[in-house]
Amino acid sequence: ESYDMGGHDTYMHKEIHEQADAVDRALRGRIDDRFSTVHLGGLNLDAREARAVRRVKILGCGTSYHAGQIGAQMIEELARIPADAEPASEFRYRNPVVDPDTLYIAVSQSGETYDVLAAVQELKRKGARVLGLVNVVGSAIARETDGGIYVHAGPEVCVVSTKCFTNMVVSFGLLALHLGRTRDLSVADGKRILAGLRKLPAQIEEILANEAQIEELAKEYADAKSMMFIGRVRGYPVAREASLKLKEVSYIHAEAYPASELKHGPLALIEPAMPTVAIVPDDELLEKNRAALEEIKARSGRILAVAHSVQEKADHTIVVPKNEHELDAILMGIPLQLFAYYTAKAMGRDIDKPRNLAKSVTVE
Ligand code: G6P
Repeated sequence: ESYDMGGHDTYMHKEIHEQADAVDRALRGRIDDRFSTVHLGGLNLDAREARAVRRVKILGCGTSYHAGQIGAQMIEELARIPADAEPASEFRYRNPVVDPDTLYIAVSQSGETYDVLAAVQELKRKGARVLGLVNVVGSAIARETDGGIYVHAGPEVCVVSTKCFTNMVVSFGLLALHLGRTRDLSVADGKRILAGLRKLPAQIEEILANEAQIEELAKEYADAKSMMFIGRVRGYPVAREASLKLKEVSYIHAEAYPASELKHGPLALIEPAMPTVAIVPDDELLEKNRAALEEIKARSGRILAVAHSVQEKADHTIVVPKNEHELDAILMGIPLQLFAYYTAKAMGRDIDKPRNLAKSVTVE
């Protein structure tokens, strides 16, 4: 293969370590300090059109769908437009109501995933406006959409997506800021979010510098047959993506739940052999998340927290630097990419090419 491995043993490890540069690329040339917003050249949506959007519907598959879930939350928070994400494959087959006031966004690394492309074509046939949030320039989805944002992650070779996921989420942050600033997001909040975006590359480096701790933790938890991932609101899609990452690359069974739903069923699974990874941002739900950790501890569950400060109820905490609360989800999953990588490594897995999976699924 033609890419220089630069001393990394796998593409997954290399691509995890490229994330600060990748995010820097996603921001480059797009920040507009004069108006405390961002400039997205290919969006093809003027201010009047942006203001006319009543809903946002995001479609993708796998990791890209999870990026869309975080994106939907950012758009709701910063632009106050109702937004949600759905797997493109499901959307196509349920004969969805296509609404002319909804902005549809197709998310895809490759830009070639058949289910996403077919959803875009069906939407276009029904007269919808569809934007793309795509990595590969000139790909089928990029060509079929009316405009969009290139995420500029650079080539991603490992089947399991890492840097592209991060750049997708950052790109959604840019879009949310842009839509927000055409509506009610203040200049002050725009400035605050821009400052947060600028801090991301250095904060990513800080997280990656903690690699030795994460490697140790991965070895410690690699004996688990199954793992639970929990989070609330901004932390929940992070938990979902982290659980997907672990199962794809290590083949350990993992499932993700909103922490608030534990008591409605999955708490029955908690025992020492079923560790929990908890996403615990220092936000308005901190106390609620701590209560969930207590519930798990009371059932002798082991807990690994990813948090902004050491969590007393957890057996271990990976501390992640804090950004603006609207952007925290961008950073909190990054240590868990390394966690999945080191778990798979400890188990001797084929990290860049997990069994049964393909980098891009161009058939149904
Ligand atoms: C495949 C890959 C996943 C990826 C998904 C969507 O299933 O194994 O890692 O998230 O396709 O791919 P896309 O290129 O559309 O982002």
